[in-house]
Amino acid sequence: MKKIAVLTSGGDAPGMNAAVRAVTRGALAKGWQPFAVRNGYAGLLAGTIEPFDARNVGGIVQQGGTVLGSARCPEFVEAAGRKKALSNLEKLNIEALVVIGGNGSQTGSASLVREGLPVVGVPSTIDNDLYGTDVSIGADTAINVTLEAIDRLRTTASSHQRAFAVETMGRDCGYIALMAGIAGGAEVIALPEQEIAPAQVAERLRAAHQRGKTHALVEIAEGARCGVRELMHYYEEQGDSIGFDLRVTRLGHVVRGGMPGAADRVLATRLGDAAVECLARGESSVLVGILCGEIASTPLGEVAGRTRPAKAELLELARVMAM
Ligand code: F6P
Repeated sequence: MKKIAVLTSGGDAPGMNAAVRAVTRGALAKGWQPFAVRNGYAGLLAGTIEPFDARNVGGIVQQGGTVLGSARCPEFVEAAGRKKALSNLEKLNIEALVVIGGNGSQTGSASLVREGLPVVGVPSTIDNDLYGTDVSIGADTAINVTLEAIDRLRTTASSHQRAFAVETMGRDCGYIALMAGIAGGAEVIALPEQEIAPAQVAERLRAAHQRGKTHALVEIAEGARCGVRELMHYYEEQGDSIGFDLRVTRLGHVVRGGMPGAADRVLATRLGDAAVECLARGESSVLVGILCGEIASTPLGEVAGRTRPAKAELLELARVMAM
């Protein structure tokens, strides 16, 4: 009987549990024995690996976070750490691993492949910046959480004729901010992928006020060059000349928490099962993703260390719509 293990790694993302369930049940359906690793790569090193059956993953398809636990694990970057991890898998005769996670996690997967372990990666990151897939597990839910905040803030902004700057997650990639900003009709969007200074944001707010707008929303990604702090500082210096009174809301980890939406549950179920199918075909060392609407695999060697920036050209669309 083939034995495979599954782990979740890096920042948690809504839908990870649906992927764990799909890998577990997909493997059981093939007559294999699945194992679950607790706390990501840290658990591989610590040897916290246990057999899973269909009941272990019952009632988790709708749960946010990851029931397996996740961790960022610096020791895994070292060859000695990976050797320990491989020996823990060998002791249990586990032949292959499914890694559910984002960029750093899939770079870890590629290292394990180089050391001889068959690994299939399942893309999961709210930032949606993984190379090899158009969409990653968790991104859609995170956009909707951000959008709900924008919609709620707009009603109070409108009542008080204020501007709100809303910071969402995205240290290196502004995908969530861009999509939620377009969907929420933000007057200005600031991303890490774009050059934008506080003075430019303020100018756009001033212009919106002069056009007769009674409220304005600035959607800012965490890693944008014009962050909420810079904007507030600029505003304090400029004061009334901007027209609107400005308030700031930082969403932080709220963006990543809570139940996955239907799109993430379905995506995670499809990709988790596709990972098992890859292993069944003997196709390992790939990331399974969605490319042009279809399930597609990309070699982990190509995915490792690469990112996919948000489409900054959509900023122009957002600008036109904010007229
Ligand atoms: O990579 C996903 C992400 O949520 C980023 O958007 C964010 O910048 C980062 O993780 C936060 O990491 P941590 O939870 O370790 O603070």
